[in-house]
Amino acid sequence: MKLYLDTANITEIKEIASWGVLDGVTTNPSLMAKEKGDYKKILKEICDIVKGPVSGEVIGQKTEEMLVEARALSKISEHMVIKIPGTIDGLKATKILAKEGIRVNMTLIFSPNQALLAAKSGAAFISPFVGRLDDIGNSGLDVVKDILNILDNYDFTSELIFASVRHPEHVRQAALVGAHIATIPYSVFIQLIKHPLTDVGIMRFIKDWQSR
Ligand code: E4P
Repeated sequence: MKLYLDTANITEIKEIASWGVLDGVTTNPSLMAKEKGDYKKILKEICDIVKGPVSGEVIGQKTEEMLVEARALSKISEHMVIKIPGTIDGLKATKILAKEGIRVNMTLIFSPNQALLAAKSGAAFISPFVGRLDDIGNSGLDVVKDILNILDNYDFTSELIFASVRHPEHVRQAALVGAHIATIPYSVFIQLIKHPLTDVGIMRFIKDWQSR
């Protein structure tokens, strides 16, 4: 499973990239709004650090507006992927962008049928928001399983991004069901490597070695 970081913060991206396990980054307007500076420059810097898929999202809701923004964002770097919401206008924009060779991450996906349409429109990535589904008492994981089945049934090449990750358990679930990618906030990413028994084990080894 590929691991993406869900942030626009350069310090966080540099830290996780230094671990050697970072495959890509996803941003969204809420994440970009937290960072100071020109957003296109920030996206360029992220692309230069990650050298893998970096998602930047359009703000416009009409197909034409999406196309203008998407084409401009795609010029930032070869690594740019354009996040387009799962709407009718989004589908139309995705079909056109895919034909132009611009990779789309269809975002704000909450149902298998939305994902089916995203795949048919040519989206390279499909992002079901698992945490937000869980938040309202639905099973985000069930939606992910259904989408993976659909992609597999028809040999779609779209990759599923397990998004809106809230805790390490989501990452474990993503890996177990075969999600292609999980995009993980920094606060969750740093928890993935931690285990109290690892810390205790290190202390014990050091103590035993010192008593030699
Ligand atoms: C994914 O691409 C989104 O940016 C993100 O996972 C949304 O997560 P949230 O529900 O925590 O805002």
